Amino acid sequence: MRYRTFPRTNWPIAEVGYGTWGMAGWSGSDDGLSLQAMARALALGCNFFDTAWAYGSGHSERLLCQLLRGWHGERVYVATKVPPKNGRWPARADDRLDDVFPPEYIREMTRKSLENLGRDSVDLQQLHVWSDAWAGDERWQREVDDLKREGLIKAFGISINRWEPANVIRALRTGLVDCVQVVYNIFDQNPEDELFAACRELNVGVIARVPFDEGSLTGTLTPDVTFPQGDWRALYFRDENLRQTIERVERLRADVPAGMSLPELALRFILENPAVTTTIPGMRRVVHVENNLAVSDGRRLPEAVLGALRGHRWDRTTVIP
Ligand SMILES: NC(=O)c1ccc[n+]([C@@H]2O[C@H](COP(=O)([O-])OP(=O)(O)OC[C@H]3O[C@@H](n4cnc5c(N)ncnc54)[C@H](OP(=O)(O)O)[C@@H]3O)[C@@H](O)[C@H]2O)c1
Repeated sequence: MRYRTFPRTNWPIAEVGYGTWGMAGWSGSDDGLSLQAMARALALGCNFFDTAWAYGSGHSERLLCQLLRGWHGERVYVATKVPPKNGRWPARADDRLDDVFPPEYIREMTRKSLENLGRDSVDLQQLHVWSDAWAGDERWQREVDDLKREGLIKAFGISINRWEPANVIRALRTGLVDCVQVVYNIFDQNPEDELFAACRELNVGVIARVPFDEGSLTGTLTPDVTFPQGDWRALYFRDENLRQTIERVERLRADVPAGMSLPELALRFILENPAVTTTIPGMRRVVHVENNLAVSDGRRLPEAVLGALRGHRWDRTTVIP
């Protein structure tokens, strides 16, 4: 495993971290298998886990707590998130901060997450949605500052709404945001337009989330795939989006280098970008953990492959979580 420096704190963070949404929020999850998969990741040197209170109302946080109770190796860094108080994903520009992240609620949810995680302090607390209309509001700024001074959180981040990567840049300029979490993958390349430059200028970390576009970039989707009602993927991979996604994945296959799998290429694409601190594939199986963590070997993609991948950029705007 290779490590990249988390800006400001200088933590050595595994460049392939771990996303835990699926193990709490998606159908077909099995806690025993998820724990085995996470334990394998620890053993292979993964030291960064991303969770959220919203992933099963604390369920994934509690699984992580269970995992780390039995871990006596190197330090592991945990990131969690405060869900929007009004329960609305994504946030909209006309949502009031009072309805989404009032200061006392940020504190209350931080305490709940700490309890689930069995810790006195969390390494990274993030806001789970964002609208830059709130950037100048001193209430969230003061609360974040207080939580840091009191040691309840060590660093603070914002998880940016899907497909709106620039909708955070004013907040970054407050100097209070240590890291952003953004959708970045072979399809969703738009963080390269403005966000990454701002992060480098302001020394802000980047967590690249959804590296496989919720699974399509693993190449396993079929036109007749269905997800149970209530599984978020049933909303994401529906009708037109499913058809378009599969067509695009089929076109992409022609650019996968010989001897490389599509998931491997998807991760290598992300790791090529020096603005990225870590990427956090969602994994519930040991085999996925082993395959994905093995990609962190320092090998570079040829420039011709990177050039071809730029042609697979897909700019989307529909408002979904
Ligand atoms: N708003 C937010 O802040 C937000 C939103 C979305 C996601 N996230 C974070 O980002 C993380 C990653 O996103 P995600 O989990 O939604 O989607 P993702 O990482 O793009 O895709 C996860 C899917 O890929 C499969 N997979 C993983 N490695 C594979 C491999 N080598 N070969 C074949 N299939 C593989 C997983 O299968 P198995 O599950 O069966 O292993 C799972 O079905 C989340 O877990 C969460 O921590 C944050």
